[in-house]
Amino acid sequence: MGLEAIETFRKLYRREPTVLSRAPGRVAMLGAHVDYSDGWVLPAAIDKSVWLAAAPSDQPRVTVYSHEYDEQHSFDLSTSYDGHDAPTSWFKYLKGVAWSLQENGYPPMAGMDAALVSDVPMGSGVSSSAALEIAFLNAWLMLSEVDIPPLTKAQIGRKTENHFMGVGSGIMDQVASIFGEEDQMLLIDCRSLEHQLIPIPPGTAVIVAESGVRRALANSDYNSRPQECREAVEILRGSLPHIQTLRDVTADQFELYGHQLPPLLRRRARHVVEECERVKLGAEALQCGDLTGFGKLMRRSQISSRDNYENSIPEFDLLASAAWQQPGCYGARFAGGGFGGVMQIFCDENAVSQIEQAIAAAFQAEFNRELPMFTSKIAKGAQCWRLQAGGVY
Ligand code: GLA
Repeated sequence: MGLEAIETFRKLYRREPTVLSRAPGRVAMLGAHVDYSDGWVLPAAIDKSVWLAAAPSDQPRVTVYSHEYDEQHSFDLSTSYDGHDAPTSWFKYLKGVAWSLQENGYPPMAGMDAALVSDVPMGSGVSSSAALEIAFLNAWLMLSEVDIPPLTKAQIGRKTENHFMGVGSGIMDQVASIFGEEDQMLLIDCRSLEHQLIPIPPGTAVIVAESGVRRALANSDYNSRPQECREAVEILRGSLPHIQTLRDVTADQFELYGHQLPPLLRRRARHVVEECERVKLGAEALQCGDLTGFGKLMRRSQISSRDNYENSIPEFDLLASAAWQQPGCYGARFAGGGFGGVMQIFCDENAVSQIEQAIAAAFQAEFNRELPMFTSKIAKGAQCWRLQAGGVY
């Protein structure tokens, strides 16, 4: 894909790119919807990435062509980045990154021409937007000779989502896209932003199955969930004055005080409190090579998303139970924000084709359509290279 980005750049701008940047999407085995409550999450970067080939422009302007959308758009560096005039959403993310940099007090950046190619499924829950933000940000920073710490990059991406795109998401996706490593999951503490790499035992695989139900987080019920979590915290503070977010509520405290919440908020809070516990147990299980134990936690996580957080869809419920019945399947739960997107199945690598056949047949029988799938490697996080003349990297 890197070469494709370079070729696309050459054809379009009739010169050599000087920078190549790639940032991956991610899967998220455990830790669903707890990042904006400052909880713990367990994602991993995948081998599907956004690639950007770029070179300085002699104009005070950023111009980006997207191969997938066959669209080219520009913004002036002097712009106020109000976000309302961005013609399409993929480009709006890039303007959002420019706005976030400005808001964070970074100096004006260089003019840039770029070409973008991607094989990250868009709007599917594998974090295509964070991959786009980070690939763009890294290329633009390198061209502008501006260096910022990796965690600040993640915060700039999150700020773009929260304040420019209007999605109340957390920081998991950007941290995963930046810090991912081959064959390792990332245990991230979304408050301290410390992370730890946990090797995935050999002989395992991750199947990613696309439900075919698309969703854009800004238009989904995603945003109601952070709001409900905040409301639950307000009420629980009556008994637990020290808590800032649901991350601060232990399972024992929830058993004592959870009844103070109205039923809907109690379900939401239960999910967050228990999911934080599941992540910590899951990290331990993985470290001990206990894949069965890890998979059970994934199942409980999926069930809690379905029943407590209520952001599953019938397609996910069916795929989860079809996968769970298969020998060699450790666990399955949907990735990302929910309400659509992809299912991720963590399994024995020798069981992949049998699981794929079984879930495709069950899906076809129930929904009368095909189930696109791929098996993803767990890959390295974002990279950015300076290109030598001739495009060698
Ligand atoms: C989306 C958001 C993340 C996170 C997940 C759910 O991917 O961007 O911040 O909240 O949903 O875990």
